[in-house]
Amino acid sequence: MPSDNTSKRILLGIGGGIAAYKSIELVRHLRFLEAEIVPVLTRNAARFVTATALQAVAGNPPRSDLWDAAAEAGMGHIELARWADAVVIAPATANLIARLANGIADDLLTTLCLATQAPRFIAPAMNTKMWEHPATRRNVARLSADGATLLGPADGEQACGEFGPGRMVEPADIATAVWRAIAAPAVLAGTKVLVTAGPTREFLDPVRFISNRSSGRQGFALAEAAQAAGADVTLIAGPVQLPTPAGVERVDVVSAEEMRQAVLARARGADVLFAVAAVADYRPAQFHERKLKKDESWATRLALRENPDIVAAVAATCELPLVVGFAAETHDALANARKKLNAKNLDAIVVNDVAVPGIGFDSADNAVTMLHASGETVLPKMPKRAIAQRLITEVAALLAQRPAPAPAVPPVAAKG
Ligand code: PMT
Repeated sequence: MPSDNTSKRILLGIGGGIAAYKSIELVRHLRFLEAEIVPVLTRNAARFVTATALQAVAGNPPRSDLWDAAAEAGMGHIELARWADAVVIAPATANLIARLANGIADDLLTTLCLATQAPRFIAPAMNTKMWEHPATRRNVARLSADGATLLGPADGEQACGEFGPGRMVEPADIATAVWRAIAAPAVLAGTKVLVTAGPTREFLDPVRFISNRSSGRQGFALAEAAQAAGADVTLIAGPVQLPTPAGVERVDVVSAEEMRQAVLARARGADVLFAVAAVADYRPAQFHERKLKKDESWATRLALRENPDIVAAVAATCELPLVVGFAAETHDALANARKKLNAKNLDAIVVNDVAVPGIGFDSADNAVTMLHASGETVLPKMPKRAIAQRLITEVAALLAQRPAPAPAVPPVAAKG
């Protein structure tokens, strides 16, 4: 079973509930984070998800039977328990939680959970009444007291039609929580990171504005990943509908000018700026206090004025160790991004082709190339959170390569 020193090894325990079908997606998210996965199914889980599908996405054959002589000869269950850096159980049914809480080891998964010393992450999924039952409450409390980390459950509509707590937390959130706990190296500890995200709005009158399709998702994912890597993060966000990542300071702005002021006020003393925002290049030359009437013919002679370039201003004046721009391109992506890298005097630029369906603006996934002085890094299509986590690793390496600032020269004592 190949494994290098940096990738994390995860036993993914899958219980027999309807949410087991989401384990395929969970494996994909964990693999984007470069984890190596061995799925372990309970007997009932195999009714909801096939070993063939799991093997295809995980790249390792799933295990399910304590008495499988061939599998045991390859890596015995005790060896497998020692191999794991983490055990993630998703979905964890009420029955599985009860067995785990009571130390019952009557199949491969529960035996592995007793034998391992790796941290255990448990994502419950069950009917609301089962979740709220005093027996389940006791079992969950006991598992927590034994050191397991509970992820969820989430609230919402369930497969059985009831509403309330009991839904399995989304696979992307499980993957991120596990990554934060076991893999996120504190590569940005002690650094101060600024991130801009989302669009800006340039108002013509109280009801009309110029803007673009940025949702803020890529920038928010970067802020989240930088915070998980130990940085002190400030996120300067244009108008978007996204929750603030935990532990991140958020400053909301609307126009490019507001974003410029918010960034410049915080850039000195920062270590890295990620300029992910899609800043409007132009604004209406004049703002009208009252709504313009349709028949006023302003539309045919709308004058625009160029907005100042925020990231170029930071690169020119703020002396940050690292300024990382983004480039949204629809053609000649690399050549255009390289021009922006040079024209704005950036240390690196991350380019995405926003003409490709399913990536770029307002999608869950992205595919990017990061260009910098010492080369380029290509990240194929994957969730924006995974892109962000991988970019953080790249940027931390670039930061580490920067020469240390010259020591301050002590003042020469005046001769008396
Ligand atoms: O928000 P999402 O829906 O998740 O989509 C993500 C994204 C596509 C917006 C993001 O990945 C991205 O590409 N962001 C940059 C978009 C952009 O405006 O590119 P640009 O080529 O126009 O600008 C180049 C760089 O200059 C960017 O870092 C931009 O923030 C910066 N800029 C641009 C104009 C300006 N007046 N000031 C700036 O600082």
